[in-house]
Amino acid sequence: MLYKIFKYFLNLIDPEIAHKLAIKIIKNPFIKFNFSDNKSHLNLIQNIFDIKFKNPIGLAAGFDKNAEIYNQIFKLGFSYSEIGTVTPQPQEGNIKPRVFRLEEDKAIINRLGFPNYGMEIIKERMVQDKPKGICGANIGPNKENATLIDDYLLCFDNLYDIASYITINISSPNTPNLRLQHEQDNIKKLVDAILKRRNQKNSKVPILFKISPDIDDSKIKNLCEIFLEKNIDGVILTNTSIKNKNSLLSRNKDQAGGISGDPIYNLSNKIIEKFYLQLGKNIPIIGVGGVKDGKTAYEKIKSGASLLQLYTSFVYEGPLVANKINKELSDLVKKDGYENISQAIGINCK
Ligand SMILES: Cc1cc2nc3c(=O)[nH]c(=O)nc-3n(C[C@H](O)[C@H](O)[C@H](O)COP(=O)(O)O)c2cc1C
Repeated sequence: MLYKIFKYFLNLIDPEIAHKLAIKIIKNPFIKFNFSDNKSHLNLIQNIFDIKFKNPIGLAAGFDKNAEIYNQIFKLGFSYSEIGTVTPQPQEGNIKPRVFRLEEDKAIINRLGFPNYGMEIIKERMVQDKPKGICGANIGPNKENATLIDDYLLCFDNLYDIASYITINISSPNTPNLRLQHEQDNIKKLVDAILKRRNQKNSKVPILFKISPDIDDSKIKNLCEIFLEKNIDGVILTNTSIKNKNSLLSRNKDQAGGISGDPIYNLSNKIIEKFYLQLGKNIPIIGVGGVKDGKTAYEKIKSGASLLQLYTSFVYEGPLVANKINKELSDLVKKDGYENISQAIGINCK
């Protein structure tokens, strides 16, 4: 109820200002949320990438771009958090306004373009305030270097020893040409370069690739073949979409940028199913796109995701959304007669 009143006022202001305010509030040690429900559910615990996750729900990249609140996020029922996207040099991103609420569609359109403080400041923050839980780092190139591998390597070198896993972001629609990294030759070179660098560092940090939902079946096949051959650790499916805007209701529907939330829920599930049919249990999938309650979370697991992430429902449902999802998810798993959520992974895929 309190969040509903608070949200009413947040809705009156620009989404980016509201986001900054939310970060300030979450960061403030004097503001306490009601954590009475923040208990563990034994049937949600899984070991993925050799890391123990106490539940499948993580905060998706983009919310904590500059590594300010990852340690507070764990207190809100999330089992892990992903900071970034981090680029080598600090950058401002696109001109404002660049984030739009689509209230009627329970969606957001953003064309932020990776505004962030740059890898050095972000690394220093993480060194000063060590992650007290699982914290991935999502990395990408500066705007002018979208098709170069070097920017990924610079960020990797900077963050591999502090992050629990590294996400290679090739799928933001707001950095021109970034999605070209999905092309067969480009992705092969990128995967090789990152894996080689990890070897040189004698590191075992898991490496994940974050993929666009706007790709066709032949591209999915190519990517799966390469990921299986090179033995990468995981994929994150999916980033925002630049399609599927026609049927939306909100007046902001024609804004340029990537859409997230309800409108990409089915799309991202389909992509997850297609990847799962080819990757099977060999490469775990993190499913993201429109997760907002136990039911939507469970369906994504059944589509083939081992773990999940969310962003948009954190905005619409409030800070206790992860707690609520975990409780509902745990009940759904029990109701279906499974001892552990892992038994439900991919059961919708035939
Ligand atoms: C405002 C905003 C900023 C985002 N920034 C990033 C980002 O920097 N890097 C990234 O990989 N994904 C970013 N995303 C995409 C989310 O991580 C996620 O993949 C997408 O929103 C789908 O999940 P959702 O429907 O739960 O929001 C952003 C999403 C939003 C709404």
